[in-house]
Amino acid sequence: MKKVLFCTILMCGASSLFALDNGLALTPPMGWNSWNKFACNVSESLIREAADSIVSTGMKDAGYQYVVIDDCWQVSRDAEGNIVPDATRFPGGMKALADYVHSKGLKFGIYSDAGTKTCAGRPGARGYEFQDARQYAAWGVDYLKFDWCNATTQNSEASYSLMHDALAKSGRPIVFSICDWGSTKPWLWAGKVGNLWRTTGDIQDKWDVKRDWGGNGVVEILDLQDGIEQAAGPGHWNDPDMLEVGNGGMTVTEYRSHFSLWCLMAAPLMAGNDLGHMTDEIRAILINKEAIAVDQDPLGYQGRRVKRDGKSEVWSKQMADGSRTVALLNRGDAEAEIGVAWTDIGYPNSLSAAVRDLWAHQDLGAHQGSFSAKVPSHGVVLVTVRPGVK
Ligand code: GLA
Repeated sequence: MKKVLFCTILMCGASSLFALDNGLALTPPMGWNSWNKFACNVSESLIREAADSIVSTGMKDAGYQYVVIDDCWQVSRDAEGNIVPDATRFPGGMKALADYVHSKGLKFGIYSDAGTKTCAGRPGARGYEFQDARQYAAWGVDYLKFDWCNATTQNSEASYSLMHDALAKSGRPIVFSICDWGSTKPWLWAGKVGNLWRTTGDIQDKWDVKRDWGGNGVVEILDLQDGIEQAAGPGHWNDPDMLEVGNGGMTVTEYRSHFSLWCLMAAPLMAGNDLGHMTDEIRAILINKEAIAVDQDPLGYQGRRVKRDGKSEVWSKQMADGSRTVALLNRGDAEAEIGVAWTDIGYPNSLSAAVRDLWAHQDLGAHQGSFSAKVPSHGVVLVTVRPGVK
C-alpha cells in the first residue's frame, strides 16, 4: 500500500501497483552488454575498456549506467559449489572488476541461467540460486540477466521467482532481468518477479528477417510488442532485446529508427556495439538526449502503434507532462509522406500544439489538428507534440 500513497495517478499508472518492489529500474535500465558484438569472447580487459568508453564517449552523461558481462565468464563450480569465473580471461577476478566499474561511477552486471547450463553450455544456477546470489552480492553485482536455456521441464514463473527470492535475500539491490524470450508470456506474470523481461527471441542485426530464416529483425520485434504495452511501467519493463545500433548490419537510417522505436516503447537501452570503435554518426544516435528523455520519461508509459496504412505507421507515447512523442515510421522501400492527426493521439482536432523534431533538434512551429512529414525508406521522423501553443 505504501506505493499507492506515494503515487499520483499521473506519475504511477495502474500497472505499477503490480510492480516488483525492489525500488530499482524506475525508468528503463540503460547500459551496455557484451553479447551482441562479442558473444563468448569476453574478458576483463574488454569489460574495463567498455567502462572506459562509456565515460569517454559521453554515454555515461547521457544516462548509460550498467556494464553487463553476458554468457561465458563462468567455467565450473568448485568443491563447495561456488561458481568459478574463467581465470584466464578474468585474471583479477570479479570483485576487482566490479570495483573498477564502480570507480567509474557505473554499475556492474552479470549473466546466468535458470537451468543447469547457460545457452553457451557454461554452469547454470539451477540448485545454486541462493549461493550464487550471495556470491554476486559479495562481488558487487548490481544487475543480473537470467536466461532460460537447459531448463527442460522447469516452471518458468517458479524458477524466476526462486532467483527473485535469492536476490532479495542477498543483501544487495540487484536489478533482475528475466530472459525467457517471451516463451511463457512473462508480461502476464513477471511484473512482481523481475524488473524487465525479454518479450521475444534474440534480436538480429537486421531490419527485417524473414521469420523462416530464424531470429527477429527490428520490425519483427516491433510487431511482437503489439498488445502487451500495458504490462510496462516504473520498475517493470517489457524488454524487446538489446540494441544492435552500430554493429554493421543496418544502415544509419535504420539504426536511428531502431533507437527511436526502442525509446518510444520505453525499452531498456542496452547498447551492444564496440564502443571504442564507433563512428560519430553511431555515437550521435546512442547519445541523443532528446530521444533518451522519451525513453526515460517518469510516467513509464510504453508507446504503441496508433495507425497503420500499408507500410506507413504512426506510433505514439504519452509523456508525464501530457505531451505526446510521435514516431512516423516508413517500412516501405520508397520515401513516403506520413501524417498524424491529433485525433490519432488523443487530442482534439482544434488543438494547436508545438511540434519539435528530436533528431534535427529543431522546433517546427505550431500545428493545428495534424502534422505530416516526408520519411525516408526504413526511416522514422520522431517529434514531440506539445499542446498549448497558439
Ligand atoms: C540467449 C539470450 C541472448 C544471450 C545468449 C547467451 O540466446 O537470449 O541474449 O544472452 O543466450 O548465450
